Amino acid sequence: MTDAAASPGLFLGQSADGETPQREILLWNRANRHGVIAGATGTGKTVTLQIMAQGFSEMGVPVFCADVKGDLSGISQVGTPNEKLLARAAGMSLTLAPKAAPTVFWDLYGQKGHPVRATVSEIGPLLMARMLDLNDVQEGVLTVAFHVADKEGLLLLDLDDLRSMLTYVAENAARIGREVGNVAPASIASIQRALLQLEQDGGDAFFGEPALKLTDMMRTSLDGRGQVNVLDSTRLMNSPRLYGAFLLWLMSELFEQLPEIGDPEKPRLVFFFDEAHLLFRDAPKPLLEKVEQVVRLIRSKGVGVYFITQNPADIPDSVLAQLGNRIQHALRAYTPSDQRGLRAASDSFRVNPAFDTADAIQALGTGEALVSTLDEKGAPRVVARTLIRPPDSRLGPATDAERAAVMAASPVKGVYDTVADRESAEEILTARHAQTEAATAPAAKPAPQGRAPAAPKAPPAPRAPRKSNRQTPMEALTKSVLRTAGSTLTRELLRGILGGLRR
Ligand SMILES: Nc1ncnc2c1ncn2[C@@H]1O[C@H](COP(=O)(O)OP(=O)(O)OP(=O)(O)O)[C@@H](O)[C@H]1O
Ligand SMILES: [Mg+2]
Repeated sequence: MTDAAASPGLFLGQSADGETPQREILLWNRANRHGVIAGATGTGKTVTLQIMAQGFSEMGVPVFCADVKGDLSGISQVGTPNEKLLARAAGMSLTLAPKAAPTVFWDLYGQKGHPVRATVSEIGPLLMARMLDLNDVQEGVLTVAFHVADKEGLLLLDLDDLRSMLTYVAENAARIGREVGNVAPASIASIQRALLQLEQDGGDAFFGEPALKLTDMMRTSLDGRGQVNVLDSTRLMNSPRLYGAFLLWLMSELFEQLPEIGDPEKPRLVFFFDEAHLLFRDAPKPLLEKVEQVVRLIRSKGVGVYFITQNPADIPDSVLAQLGNRIQHALRAYTPSDQRGLRAASDSFRVNPAFDTADAIQALGTGEALVSTLDEKGAPRVVARTLIRPPDSRLGPATDAERAAVMAASPVKGVYDTVADRESAEEILTARHAQTEAATAPAAKPAPQGRAPAAPKAPPAPRAPRKSNRQTPMEALTKSVLRTAGSTLTRELLRGILGGLRR
């Protein structure tokens, strides 16, 4: 085990408040009580995230974080501290030990990291509707389509499957309307258009197999350090809804798949949610309620969730109230809306008699923050003005060559790099369609449309055998329903809070 184990918590930095300097620590056993890192642009949020991610990793806790600007990638490289950083460290009696964190890069588009994929069935109707920016009526229709697919055992792996499924629902609208719920053709057409848009934005790369297994994000390296999963989000930021829905999906997967453990000695995983305002912006109330519920309940599964945003006022109160550990970098207060944000930020702290919270927030320098973490009893400590420690890894981005080297040595190298395509809804529906056509007009019809025209009556052959990648010892964590099923499922799928699949 590393040195971190000797400390009761993660060393964030040093506070003074006039008298004796104090070490600001985030207790390992309170780290699952969630947190927030806020501050105006350029005030030090990403560096704070970096030192926290590396600190957890040192303690053997895997972390997940999104890299919005590319600068967090430096966590994969050994730091080369300059005079300024060395002086900062010395000022807090800290000896920097330059080292890289064991990093795995991921990328929904498969360019700057290993591809991350999920199947449409796993994502579920709620988050899919969010990704597609559907209105309530369209979301209702999508829910019907998922319901029919779940019930009839049709696997929705990729967007082609979803498209075929929608066509199937449209063609059988009368029967489905009677049995499940109304499906207006106009709504189906709108959903199809939204699908096309998602595809044009490159979103189709995300849907399919091999789907991500959480166990691949929860590894520890041989020396006992937790894996730091960095999701490159530089391109993903252009599709904010896909970004937000993806992170929600990942969080809900952790929630659905991990067992209850109560309050652990240290978290099992820490999840950093950068640009958190994107999650909540325009989110409908039912979705917000569900997010709040997942955040509240995931704590007892040992997962700490940390939201990073410019202003804590971007986070709904019901969620903010659950974030026990708070790090507030500088805020400016030029506009009335800035001032409201500042007030909200300062009101959330337990007052320190030594200074005025609102004044202090505006006066903070770069890499300095107001910090209040939870004490042993779980109560917030008095807020302290804190100089945040410098990182042991590199401050600034990794080069493309360095990133490539990290990926080449990655523990998941080759696991996700090629798409697998097994028989799913599209093939089955194409075959069914062909059979119907053959039965109604045996001689006159041309071959049915579709990528895989199947001979009438003959069952379609899978296009490619599914790549086998299911041999890890922690297989129990994966959803056996979906992963071990063939082309059809024997029972209706169960869906969890956010509409993803339950084990
Ligand atoms: N703890 C720290 N130790 C040393 N330098 C720091 C620290 N925090 C911030 N800095 C310096 O400040 C710069 C800006 O910090 P950072 O990139 O974390 O800001 P940010 O809040 O993430 O900004 P943005 O909102 O634009 O992403 C860093 O590049 C670094 O030079
Ligand atoms: Mg940043």
